Amino acid sequence: MASSSSSSPPKKQLIVNAFTMQAPTHLNPGLYRYPKDKGSSYNSIQHWISVAQKLEAAKFHAIFFADVLGGYDVYKGPANLEPTIPGGTQFPIIDPLYSISAMAAATQSIGFGVTASTTYENPYALARRFSTVDHLSGGRVGWNIVTSYLDSAARNFGLDTQIEHDERYRIAHEYLHVTYKLWEGSWRDGAVEKSEKRYADPHGVRQINHEGKYFKIPGPHLTEPSPQRTPLLLQAGTSTAGKAFAAQHAEAIFLNGHTPELVRPSVDTIRKQAAEAGRDPSSIKIIAGVLAIVAETDEAAQAKFEEVASYGDEEGALVLFGGWSGYDLSKYPEDQDFRFVEQPAIRSMVNHWASTVPGTEGKKWDKKTIAQYLKLGGNGPKIIGSAKTVADQLEKWVEVADVDGFNFSAASIPETFEDIITYLLPELQKRGLFWNDYAVKGGTFRENVYGKPGQNRLPDTHPGAQYFWKEGEEVPKYAQKN
Ligand SMILES: Cc1cc2nc3c(=O)[nH]c(=O)nc-3n(C[C@H](O)[C@H](O)[C@H](O)COP(=O)(O)O)c2cc1C
Repeated sequence: MASSSSSSPPKKQLIVNAFTMQAPTHLNPGLYRYPKDKGSSYNSIQHWISVAQKLEAAKFHAIFFADVLGGYDVYKGPANLEPTIPGGTQFPIIDPLYSISAMAAATQSIGFGVTASTTYENPYALARRFSTVDHLSGGRVGWNIVTSYLDSAARNFGLDTQIEHDERYRIAHEYLHVTYKLWEGSWRDGAVEKSEKRYADPHGVRQINHEGKYFKIPGPHLTEPSPQRTPLLLQAGTSTAGKAFAAQHAEAIFLNGHTPELVRPSVDTIRKQAAEAGRDPSSIKIIAGVLAIVAETDEAAQAKFEEVASYGDEEGALVLFGGWSGYDLSKYPEDQDFRFVEQPAIRSMVNHWASTVPGTEGKKWDKKTIAQYLKLGGNGPKIIGSAKTVADQLEKWVEVADVDGFNFSAASIPETFEDIITYLLPELQKRGLFWNDYAVKGGTFRENVYGKPGQNRLPDTHPGAQYFWKEGEEVPKYAQKN
């Protein structure tokens, strides 16, 4: 890989992911109406195959699918989807796991991140589903572990309201240990013989006998070991409990933040906590979410942003705010400036935006401003400009925030990704910031994210490694922490 100057030290090779959702819109409510947008093909397998092939030709590390298990029904609520449905605001939505095998069959090296919740899905069933897709994709699946945040999901899974926030993370912690036991401890390497005598050695398959506070699962794992066994583990919690969970379990962590200066302390905390947990902090990949609108010139990019934004659904943006925060802004007058509202959580969030979002100085933060801010790219940074302008900003993120890569969301799918491919990636390659090809062509997701041929399994310092099969030993007991 060429470096911009032969005397300068080698630069960090960025991880580049596409961030999307299998719904008409993701972080771009209303955009399915934009003539070039293909969001409304979200339920077509040909659409996803075409997107995956385009991204792979450009050497994206992965396509990462967000997911939710309920509608955003807080705005003008409670339990009201009327403002949500017109803009296709993350509703309707299909289960992303089913499409992965088809995309994998049409590609060779790109990875697939799939969101699944530890709050509503049983770990025994989830472990089998991920093993299935890891087999069928040749080891190219990752799990974005979420604890979920929508009351509508809780109600549809039979609860009156959501389980308390930190309790969801305690459940998630035990949940992960159950899946490690199934994936790593239930089948011995080489147990599958496929010989004339037997398919597999019965002594190479064992119960996990998990009995914890939340789960009782004897095992064994129903599925024989897949190429990665444990899928690449991704996570995106931002609370104190979320960061502590990520530092223990995640191999790649998604962070949202407006400026690299604001994100840096979270990066430092996560790496420090990971080191305290005995992990190698530099092995944890930190990925920042960003909307990048790139074109030939700064002016052309700005014009593109404004054109695309004109299709955005501002009501849908307030719907997203309601789902993420739990607060219904429809209860406030049109001219309410939320920097001064009584509700402290909203006040603090909006004041944070007011002090960090570029170009909004002196603006009144009423519903209209909030909607305009959130309708493209959600609550993340938006970088708009020529390849040089955007690459300069991304380099600053790497230098200041110590991030390892980016999750690029789409204002319009696949156009935003196509512009990144046409303009931005060649510039990043010229600067020595982005690879020219996969580290391991046809390799597993883990091999390509770590850039290490043969790194198919969890690293030895990861807590899941304690469950690797050791001859003559039982599956280690789970040490309940709470
Ligand atoms: C970049 C990013 C992407 C996320 N994607 C999802 C998602 O697809 N589905 C979901 O239920 N939660 C998603 N979340 C939410 C978190 O995983 C987490 O459940 C939520 O932030 C609550 O945890 P916290 O309080 O620790 O932040 C995402 C969060 C971030 C920052």
